Amino acid sequence: MQINKVAVIGAGTMGAQIAMVCALKGYDVLLNDIEESSLAKARESLAGHMNRRIEKGKLTEQEVEAAFGRMSFVTDLNAVKEADFVVEAIVEKLDVKRELFSKLDTLTNDHAILATNSSTIVSSKIADATSRPANVCNVHFFNPPLVMELVEVVKGPHTSDETAKTAFDFIQTLGKTPVLLKKEISGFIANRILGKLTDEAVFLLENGYATHEEIDVVCKKALNHPIGPFALMDLTGIDVNYFVRSQRYQETGDEADKPAALIQEKVEKGELGRKTGKGFYEYSS
Ligand code: NAI
Repeated sequence: MQINKVAVIGAGTMGAQIAMVCALKGYDVLLNDIEESSLAKARESLAGHMNRRIEKGKLTEQEVEAAFGRMSFVTDLNAVKEADFVVEAIVEKLDVKRELFSKLDTLTNDHAILATNSSTIVSSKIADATSRPANVCNVHFFNPPLVMELVEVVKGPHTSDETAKTAFDFIQTLGKTPVLLKKEISGFIANRILGKLTDEAVFLLENGYATHEEIDVVCKKALNHPIGPFALMDLTGIDVNYFVRSQRYQETGDEADKPAALIQEKVEKGELGRKTGKGFYEYSS
């Protein structure tokens, strides 16, 4: 299947950059958000990223201008009707995502693939909100999408082989490295492994074996990780970690899945990481 037009729904941390990645590779891209302010913020932030790339000689002014020329920033969802591939990157709430997919189902052409960028929700929880489950899958980009190369493509039991292949090939055309999960599992691969690592890091900190700085140094210098688990939580948002764990705890009822007290305390204090200026580390603006 030929993909010409891409729609990205949700212009936040992930959606804005996913849209830019697509536009830089020559796709016509529609970036949609319910909030005009999110679209304005996305445009400004992307302009900043692109200017830095121009200054570093990674992109030319013409390339950036052409990419922005291929993008439209809209609040009207009706504009998705031309899209061949839709990436949903809205708030991580199942009922909101299901409502959106049901609307996308009626608004887009029958052939369009509807993919979710959710970091935890498998597409089988969403696909039946549409009349075309075979065209629904996960494409999980990593933060920040402009930089991170890997994208997990996840085939649900409802996803057709053709959809999985088209999604996989599409991700390759973005210059990214897709990995296909042939069966769906919540958290996919990277976050499941990272989750175990983070839990252990928090356990060591909470029980006074070492400081967060020391644990981060060990992960960097002994395990060769580019960033330690605490610095990474600050980057993605400690509230994101808390939210994911709370959801899992709700689902399983297993005490082992309960968010750590330390994480809960940080969230209650509003120390969410870089976005609030303080998490495990402090950040000047
Ligand atoms: P965000 O909170 O930065 O942005 C979400 C955007 O969606 C907001 O601008 C909001 O106005 C908009 N929105 C909400 N409901 C909408 C609707 N019905 N229609 C259109 N726009 C709507 O969220 P973020 O961090 O970009 O996450 C988006 C998705 O990507 C989530 O599913 C999340 O799990 C996933 N994800 C997040 C990563 C991260 O590190 N932040 C990494 C990988 C995946």
